[in-house]
Amino acid sequence: MFNTDWTTDAIVARRDKFYSASQRAFVPYQTPLIFKKGKGQYLWDETGKRYLDLLGMNVCISVGHSHPQVNAAVTAQIEQLPHCTTMFYHPVPAHFAEELVATMPAGHDWVVHFMNSGAEAADLALLMARSFTRNIDFLALRGGYHGATFGAQSLTGISGFRHNVPLLGGIQHVANPDAYRGVYGDSVQPYLEEIERTVSCSTTGKLAGMIIEPIQGYGGIVPMLPGYIAGAFERVRAAGGVCVIDEVQSGFGRTGSDFWAFAGHDVVPDIVIMAKGIGNGIPLAAVVAKREVAEALAHKFYFNTYGANPTACAAGRAVLQVIAEEHLQENARVVGARMLEVLQEVRHKYDVIGDVRGRGLMLAIELVKDRNTKLPATEETARVFELSREEGLVLSKSGPYRSVLRMVPPLCISLDDVEFFATSLDRCFTRLG
Ligand SMILES: Cc1ncc(COP(=O)(O)O)c(C=O)c1O
Repeated sequence: MFNTDWTTDAIVARRDKFYSASQRAFVPYQTPLIFKKGKGQYLWDETGKRYLDLLGMNVCISVGHSHPQVNAAVTAQIEQLPHCTTMFYHPVPAHFAEELVATMPAGHDWVVHFMNSGAEAADLALLMARSFTRNIDFLALRGGYHGATFGAQSLTGISGFRHNVPLLGGIQHVANPDAYRGVYGDSVQPYLEEIERTVSCSTTGKLAGMIIEPIQGYGGIVPMLPGYIAGAFERVRAAGGVCVIDEVQSGFGRTGSDFWAFAGHDVVPDIVIMAKGIGNGIPLAAVVAKREVAEALAHKFYFNTYGANPTACAAGRAVLQVIAEEHLQENARVVGARMLEVLQEVRHKYDVIGDVRGRGLMLAIELVKDRNTKLPATEETARVFELSREEGLVLSKSGPYRSVLRMVPPLCISLDDVEFFATSLDRCFTRLG
């Protein structure tokens, strides 16, 4: 086996010397945090200190770190055949496609395309929408995040992720219905009217489609207002477009009430993209689309070398099984509701918390300098974030002003963990002063 040097200085030095800036730049804490082990909802650093993982490695760990059932499925497949390129036939991805389709709204003919990342899935969704409708113009939301490839970056509505190069044309961003900070507050109608105005002023009048996260993740846990997605879908379809839902963060039972977050909005999308938690840490993503929409690509190749990789799909099958067997969607609902109560209690105690929001295990608090002006408390957020690490919590900073603390733990987090979370979070705000 290889010799792996676990000393902090060596890890930092190697990373600084050999990682490109594009890989090196994303550093959350002031000093490096090195993780050595994960089990369930817990992580251990290289010194043996335990943390409650409220980030799930960026929402990738759905059923828990190193879940034995997922590990066993992956190991069994690796031992038999780690990869089988998509032009050959293999039962595992085919089974998984069938099982994913079974999670989608009944009465529609769904098909699946597997790939490796959410950004690739966003790219394919855009391509499908444009190919199917033969329209170019596409809508996305301000505050939305869909990935780092050219296509996905062009759909993303957060400047920090948009690079200074010509991105794809034909994409217009409309106001996100953000009840706390949105330009039209919490009333749905003006946001829908903005879609209409954008279609009539900034497009050809015809749409290829629109992409929406039911709860914006990197945008700072912004749940779509009730009625918005349905109203947006209506307008997009009236302009000839297809409706794309990005479930990369919100899917697989995370919101507790529904397996797919869009289901709570009483809509049926034409395309759904999913990644992250689908593989519990094994790289995997999928586009699930209505057959007629996906058929638009029947006459050209669209080849992802590792698409439908049987090892990743074995992980995916195990994830679906574990979610069902361990009742993790229900756990997300129950434990998420208790976490939300804790966050409300903390908000009552500390004025610096301006807002508490989210659903299931997709939660956030937003810090403000003043509850009336809502001036973002970016420095205070950074301080609480550093303190939370000392208190044994792994959180995430997000939102356009880095003033949101996001919580998206593995779905197996327990009510006992919430007690530890409550005490630790309270200590962070007491220490903030
Ligand atoms: C909502 C959403 N969509 C798409 C993506 C892109 O996924 P990936 O990083 O796997 O390309 C992300 C990643 O964070 C995401 O949060």
